[in-house]
Amino acid sequence: MHPSWPDLPPERLHRLLRAMPKAELHVHVEGTLEPELIFKLARRNGVVLTYASVGALRAAYAFTDLQSFLDIYYAGTSVLCTEQDFFDMAWAYLERAAADKVVHAEIFFDPQTHTGRGVPFATVIQGLEHACRRAHSELGVSAKLILCFLRHLSEAEALATLDEALPWQHHFIGVGLDSSELGHPPEKFARVFARARERGLHVVAHAGEEGPPEYIRSALDVLKAERIDHGVRCIEDPDLVARLARERVPLTVCPLSNVKLGVFASLARHNLPALLDAGLCVTVNSDDPAYFGGYLNQNLVETFAALPVLNTRQAWQLASNSFDASFATDSEKTRWREALDAAFARA
Ligand code: HPA
Ligand code: ZN
Repeated sequence: MHPSWPDLPPERLHRLLRAMPKAELHVHVEGTLEPELIFKLARRNGVVLTYASVGALRAAYAFTDLQSFLDIYYAGTSVLCTEQDFFDMAWAYLERAAADKVVHAEIFFDPQTHTGRGVPFATVIQGLEHACRRAHSELGVSAKLILCFLRHLSEAEALATLDEALPWQHHFIGVGLDSSELGHPPEKFARVFARARERGLHVVAHAGEEGPPEYIRSALDVLKAERIDHGVRCIEDPDLVARLARERVPLTVCPLSNVKLGVFASLARHNLPALLDAGLCVTVNSDDPAYFGGYLNQNLVETFAALPVLNTRQAWQLASNSFDASFATDSEKTRWREALDAAFARA
């Protein structure tokens, strides 16, 4: 149960949202690649971009749905070639996350986007892992990696990727499933996820962003997902909502992403309050912040500004949920919960 913190006026509430310690559980590292860094890496690697300037690239970020975003997102990754490039991308995100008082981040990466262009898996994972290690020692941020399979590719390609990744298992904590959801249900990857679970990896999956509630059910029943990424369409199925609440399955919700990709018409229409009211373990996350207009604190502040029904108790609940839903140790969770309560007591 959460303490009953008194409501605060907007300015103080927004300050508290920014200052409170929090975990980020749904961020794609390739989605943190800012246009400025895309151009810097293109110059460094001699990659020719089809956009003339940072401004022209940013102007192309007008998405209508998930696929229209993914086309530009995958094009942006063409500048990532060396271990240093992967380090620089992840480090820039981690510095930004630390500024948002993120104390723990579980970061998705899409190896197939890179191995498919001839970049060795080792190059990708070593660059990212180096940034995570340095974030812990220099920024005090605990950072872990989750390998995502691209669901628009085949089961065989996912199995080959898992085989290639397993020698590096000490560098990542779990597997996930992302990319084009419709037409690619979770069950397509049943054997891949079974093998990952046998190796002791955590399991999460994107489901119910554009796809129907049945995809959330099969992510749970077939893949044995421990968390659902997005999951907002669960609201269409009251039995599923009841199950998610009963089993305390976390949903990693990404409000700015949902609006940019047309899942909701506006933040004011987002179902976050309904999901919280239903007793679900919901968290707020940034998804692809370089593309969707904001990092974690921006997601929190804009969402709370658009939905006045959200106040101090919901802020505490979301941060508390982010620790509960994480794959961190119990002692880390206890430490972060104490810091959370201290931040609220000061507010
Ligand atoms: N959905 C599916 N795939 C993705 C996303 C997303 O929101 N972001 C990056 N890859
Ligand atoms: Zn995502």
